[in-house]
Amino acid sequence: MNIRHVISAMSLLMLTAVCFNTAMAEKIGVLMPTDNLQKRWFNHDGPVLKDELEKLGHTVTVAYASEDDVMVQKKQLQQMIIAGNKIIIVSPVDSASLSEFMDQYVDASIYIIAYDRLISGTEKVDYFVTFDSADVGKKIGEYVVDKLKLKEPEAQPKNIEFMNGPKEDSNSAVLYASAMGVLAPYIKNGLINIPSGEASLEKTQITAWSKQFARERMIRIIDQKNYGPKGEKLDAVVCLNDSIGRGAIDALTRAGYEPGNYPIVTGQDCDKLSVKSIWSDVQSMSVFKDSRRLAAETAKIADAVSKKKIPSLNRPEGTFNGVKNVPTHILDVEVVTKENVKEVLIDSGYYPASTLDSFY
Ligand code: BGC
Repeated sequence: MNIRHVISAMSLLMLTAVCFNTAMAEKIGVLMPTDNLQKRWFNHDGPVLKDELEKLGHTVTVAYASEDDVMVQKKQLQQMIIAGNKIIIVSPVDSASLSEFMDQYVDASIYIIAYDRLISGTEKVDYFVTFDSADVGKKIGEYVVDKLKLKEPEAQPKNIEFMNGPKEDSNSAVLYASAMGVLAPYIKNGLINIPSGEASLEKTQITAWSKQFARERMIRIIDQKNYGPKGEKLDAVVCLNDSIGRGAIDALTRAGYEPGNYPIVTGQDCDKLSVKSIWSDVQSMSVFKDSRRLAAETAKIADAVSKKKIPSLNRPEGTFNGVKNVPTHILDVEVVTKENVKEVLIDSGYYPASTLDSFY
């Protein structure tokens, strides 16, 4: 074989590789539920998912629904379909709102993967990749029971307030049920003081998981119940995510609480601002949902779909969305407190060490 043969053999190999890659590359659309700069979607999920999919050779477009707007997300989905994306990964603003639209416009050639939040009421969703929300709620409930020592024989009644996400997000009901599942026995035996009717999902939900609405609700509660460092003792505010936690904390700060005397405030996501707040003894805990793992799993599933293979899932029997069981992959979660924040979030490279430099 002379040098010319070697060169043409190499060119053929390179050409085959290019063709092979092109054949495998897919146009993939990603729809995230909000463009809020402080929440996980914009900072982690969107960019990390894009990166993972691109590493596998796909062409990716990411769109964020501005301010959790359902109509904006519908338009974005429509644009993704018109642009010819054959796999669309969607984290819905509102779990039920896309069903009619999807029934009408998503044809059999398009695969839909629900990301973190389930899409309900439609056959057109193919896969669901998410964290174990039931475990998030359970871990939050158990943390509060433990910190307030409610299991001890000499336990005294505690004042607790409760703030959950909106009922339009399928995760809210799961979080609510699991956190309440842990707290309910203590409500029943009088160790948690929540007047009946005040702790329902309806009453405790915060529209769009909004910090501002959580703040307003907490201010109203503080005023009504005269909570404060010098007033009625508030023992815990069970917030089912970090943005809600930040809203509650703003209201508590306004009422005179300071680091060291805040009630227990819980959260979920380990948003950067909330991590600073944990580090500064303001927020008590958060639940870490490592978006890097969620993105990597989702990318694997999308990649398998693009190759017409059946993805490997750990809950293939699926999650019922009101119409069908959507084959699911579910990931575990971890409680973060001041004690393990460095190990879990800094040492793992999720945040730079400088995150802990500045105070809340
Ligand atoms: C997610 C949470 C997030 C919340 C608000 C939920 O669906 O599971 O991680 O905090 O939406 O963005």
